[in-house]
Amino acid sequence: MGIFDGKVAIVTGSGRGIGRAEALQLAAQGASVVVNDLGVSLQGGTLEARPADEVVAEIVAAGGRAVANFGDVGDWSGAKALVQQAIDTYGGLDILVNNAGVIRTGMSFNTEEADWDVVIHVHLKGTFAMCRFAGEYWRNRAKAEGGPVNASIVNTSSPNGLNGGVPGHVNYAAAKSGIATMTITLARELAPYGVRCNAVAPVAVTRMTEELWDTDLFPRESMAEKSPEGIAAVVAWLASDLASDVSGQVLQVHGRTCSLWQSWHIGAEVESPTGGPWTLDDAPQLRAQLFAGHDPGVPPVQ
Ligand SMILES: NC(=O)c1ccc[n+]([C@@H]2O[C@H](COP(=O)([O-])OP(=O)(O)OC[C@H]3O[C@@H](n4cnc5c(N)ncnc54)[C@H](O)[C@@H]3O)[C@@H](O)[C@H]2O)c1
Repeated sequence: MGIFDGKVAIVTGSGRGIGRAEALQLAAQGASVVVNDLGVSLQGGTLEARPADEVVAEIVAAGGRAVANFGDVGDWSGAKALVQQAIDTYGGLDILVNNAGVIRTGMSFNTEEADWDVVIHVHLKGTFAMCRFAGEYWRNRAKAEGGPVNASIVNTSSPNGLNGGVPGHVNYAAAKSGIATMTITLARELAPYGVRCNAVAPVAVTRMTEELWDTDLFPRESMAEKSPEGIAAVVAWLASDLASDVSGQVLQVHGRTCSLWQSWHIGAEVESPTGGPWTLDDAPQLRAQLFAGHDPGVPPVQ
């Protein structure tokens, strides 16, 4: 008996890394899993590899149920076909884990159009496209059944999308920040239909972080803690009925520490001294009051 017995899940980008661990964990708990992976390099270049096949074989060898999908999540019709594949193969969809990702590092002033486009395509458009078609399916089902379905989305943001982003990752930070905000909007839109939507911001030992191994962020002695399996456990919890009252939340998982991130909040608020619209003459007073107790300079990376 598993917590996902009878459930159907899609995990995008699950041929490797964190997604692979998520697909294996959902399947081990009884879910039938559509293992999606385009099989691209870290930067999104096409490879010959079909890692989704290998993960499906692992799941089946362990006695589970899985089928592969090799589509691009950022492709509108590919996302639609992926949702349809789950429905056609297993009779429905209960869990969507949006995990697929690529990275193109570079300072803003050196970024080429393709570096911007591919990162936004996979992360922001891919996450949205999958939620759009899964959401349509769940809304239709809720209407047909006359009540809410019980479904769950887990998106993948990043600490970089929540802390303002480190230099050299402006495309990635913008996309991951968009995913965090989208998660809250989708949670609000889909709640009436019985669909929860949360996100994780992982830190894990995968090929994406290989350049950081043995640095302060990934000291060798703590690398075992930052396993993809640890991220997958939190994702499985969020996807399950054990988290049935959790929605619109963004959790960072960094080794043993799981943190609740909360969205933009007001740090200070000032009324114009005249009670009318602001004028340039008000600027000194505005600055003094707005930044009383706050550093007005570039925020440090947390
Ligand atoms: N590893 C970390 O510390 C870390 C930190 C923050 C966020 N993340 C996020 O976690 C997710 C998983 O990253 P990972 O570290 O496991 O990386 P990974 O490179 O090991 O895995 C990503 C997978 O996504 C697949 N993919 C890429 N583009 C795709 C597309 N258009 N359609 C379908 N599949 C596609 C790749 O082929 C790859 O197998 C990503 O969204 C990443 O941005 C990871």
